[in-house]
Amino acid sequence: MLAEIESIESGALAELAAASDPDTLESWRQAYIGPKGRLKGLMPRLKDVPPADKPAVGQRLNALKSTLESAFDSRKAVLGAGAAAASGPMIDLSEPGLLRSETVARRHIITRVRDELVDVFARMGFQVADGPELEDDEHNFIKLNIPPNHPAREPIDNFYVDDPRTTTRPRMLRSQTSTVQIRTMERMIAERSGPPIKIVSPGRVYRPDTVDATHSFMFHQIEGLYIDRGVTMQDLKSTLLHFARAYFGPNADVRLRPSFFPFTEPSAEFDMKIRLRPEQPERWMELGGCGMVDPAVLQACGIDSEQWTGFAFGFGIERLAMGKYGIPDIRLLYQNDIRFLNQV
Ligand code: DAH
Repeated sequence: MLAEIESIESGALAELAAASDPDTLESWRQAYIGPKGRLKGLMPRLKDVPPADKPAVGQRLNALKSTLESAFDSRKAVLGAGAAAASGPMIDLSEPGLLRSETVARRHIITRVRDELVDVFARMGFQVADGPELEDDEHNFIKLNIPPNHPAREPIDNFYVDDPRTTTRPRMLRSQTSTVQIRTMERMIAERSGPPIKIVSPGRVYRPDTVDATHSFMFHQIEGLYIDRGVTMQDLKSTLLHFARAYFGPNADVRLRPSFFPFTEPSAEFDMKIRLRPEQPERWMELGGCGMVDPAVLQACGIDSEQWTGFAFGFGIERLAMGKYGIPDIRLLYQNDIRFLNQV
């Protein structure tokens, strides 16, 4: 019987190797390893084998079974691959789309707008200056000519860290980037590196406003300060106009409206006329405040206001970004909803 098994095996493997299409393969399967195949036919004959030979013959039968089965599997795989190759790549159109999509990280819209602004002002000769977010009332108010009883200093309108009624120089989260005007003038006077001074300073500011579509307790401003000999209101307006055209395009325009700020005289609020999309009408966007630096502010920082004059401006980065990108609600900027972040 061992000899018979031997010959069945070699015959079967030879036939399998010759099988070159699915039908032949299937007949081979039925003939050898199917329920009525030759392998099955051999099994009952095991009982006629003399007891001493049974273990060896049984083992040989098992080996034959697994040899034929795995030979069948590999032949089937080879034929299947060949058929697939012959009919071109197999694409199953009912498969769901790519489950793994590549996500490319990007900077937050406020960060991008901040960098764009700094870039435009840098090309106009402004350096970037920095100042602390944890400030004191000397830099947030006093040296900006905002006197002790000024309503802007109310505890209800500011994040004081120390109690302003009992502390001489209470610390606070800065409510405006105008603090960096003071910090920069003090530093440059101490270092004897200016005036002239020509800086912009973007950064966070904090006010305990009730959060709604246009207010947040934290937002960003960018401050500008230019001090030199003979700087005039004309320079202020042309700088803002230059900026508007560089940032929004050649048709942008700027207008100043008389206003009041304690640290500038005269003071103005400025609007920019922009067209967001070609099909939309131009519109005026209120942006921020500006003016000629008050001589009292220059003097408080040790700058001779007889020799030097300067202008300053400050505006909200969120407001600008919302106007530019048509974002209707400031809260969208801080919720970190990935659908929003990918859109702007
Ligand atoms: N700091 C002002 C604010 O937060 C904005 C401002 C007005 C800045 C006039 C200036 C300026 O530099 O000259 O409302």
